[in-house]
Amino acid sequence: MVTASAPGKVYLFGEHAVVYGEPAVPCAIELRAHVTVTERDSGLRVTAGDLTLDGFTVEYDGAASGRPDVDVSDSLIEAAMGYINEGIAQAKDAAGAENVGFDIAIESEIPLGAGLGSSAAVVVAAIEAATRELGVELSPEEIADRAYRVEHTVQDGQASRADTFCCAMGGAVRVEGDDCRVIEAPDLPFVIGYDGGAGDTGALVAGVRERKETYGFADDTVSAIGDLVREGEQALAEGDIAELGALMNFNHGLLSALGVSSRSLDAMVWAARDAGALGAKLTGAGGGGCIVALDDTPETETALEYTPGCKDAYRAALDTDGVRVED
Ligand code: MEV
Repeated sequence: MVTASAPGKVYLFGEHAVVYGEPAVPCAIELRAHVTVTERDSGLRVTAGDLTLDGFTVEYDGAASGRPDVDVSDSLIEAAMGYINEGIAQAKDAAGAENVGFDIAIESEIPLGAGLGSSAAVVVAAIEAATRELGVELSPEEIADRAYRVEHTVQDGQASRADTFCCAMGGAVRVEGDDCRVIEAPDLPFVIGYDGGAGDTGALVAGVRERKETYGFADDTVSAIGDLVREGEQALAEGDIAELGALMNFNHGLLSALGVSSRSLDAMVWAARDAGALGAKLTGAGGGGCIVALDDTPETETALEYTPGCKDAYRAALDTDGVRVED
């Protein structure tokens, strides 16, 4: 039996545009997914708990039965099962062990489909735990690459390396196409607001692609996000938190123009700004889920707690630890 864990992440800048080769800067945060893998003769049995902040437990036999009976959308469950099945296929491939089965237990503090990298963290931790269980040790870079292939398959060929590289490596990272690096970052005062909902990453990415292909100005918006990220990298290197906040505000506007914000995400972004946050934006695929704000005072967290549509608000520190095996 091996347990591995990997962190969730927020996007300081660049989600969606990164799918088209623009740079992005996600940062790992101290909310982790833990995956415990035990080899068995055949089949796949997955037990999952706490995949949303409300918590629920799912038990299904990936080999034999169909969908678990839980109160979340079918597309989220299909995606979650797809990530796990594909992640295990990658681990078996890496170990050259096609005919083994596994019991898999997932415990995640990261809400499902809410823009905090839950799927990447689960896949990265599952590949680490399953390969170790089979006696094989992969580098974090190899795990990131295999986890990227999983996301690419499950998201119909529309995924960047950003989420999986960040979860595998930890810290702040910069991803532009296949060029992935860990970068220096100051300790950023992240505050997260969560509306209790989720977005369908595949559908949201497909929607942006369609707008980009239909309208020249949507294509320009994606390029503008790339320009903004390059400015943001400069601000990050200089530790200019006020400028980072201003650019986050700009990034939210551009994501909104691309159609991936929502009423509750906008409400939380404005509540954070009104409370004095240096900047606030949605994080991840959007459609619902989480926003990230920068504020080193308690004001934003308090304001979010009283914002209609915000279900939970909390601080999240940068996690410099990527994927790791737990004792
Ligand atoms: C989702 O967390 C981030 C997106 O940019 C998709 C991706 O990079 O694969 C929307």
